[in-house]
Amino acid sequence: MKKVITYGTFDLFHYGHINLLERAKALGDYLIVGLSTDEFNEEKGKISTFKYEEREKHLKAIKYVDEIIPENSWDQKIDDIKNNKVDVFVMGDDWKGKFDFLKEYCEVVYLPRTPEISSTIIKEVQKK
Ligand code: CTP
Repeated sequence: MKKVITYGTFDLFHYGHINLLERAKALGDYLIVGLSTDEFNEEKGKISTFKYEEREKHLKAIKYVDEIIPENSWDQKIDDIKNNKVDVFVMGDDWKGKFDFLKEYCEVVYLPRTPEISSTIIKEVQKK
């Protein structure tokens, strides 16, 4: 079984997220999502609108997602890949090159982002 992993906050869940998850799943048979915790987001200076449990509930309802694990820190990825026997690491291409150090452990794929949508854009539209 080919295992794929991806990470993110997935706040204000939108079709860009779905596109990413659909294509990530298509690269293998089993998709794990590392969902950043509220504490980790705080560390990154990011405040999500929805709490971890709410963001997790959205993800759980998506047919492409097989498993969700918490993302607590920047440096857990190597352990996650080893412990879960991951074959492919996937991120949107806003992260292009940033995770090339993982190529030692598995395949690394950057997928093109869906244009003109992001959690940040939704927040800005809501403010108006
Ligand atoms: N993503 C994507 N296309 C978009 C938005 C996000 O492919 N239009 C991907 C990201 O590249 C990442 C994953 O979805 O691999 C989760 O991204 P996340 O940062 O949680 O979502 P964003 O909408 O980009 O959030 P923000 O505006 O806070 O950066």
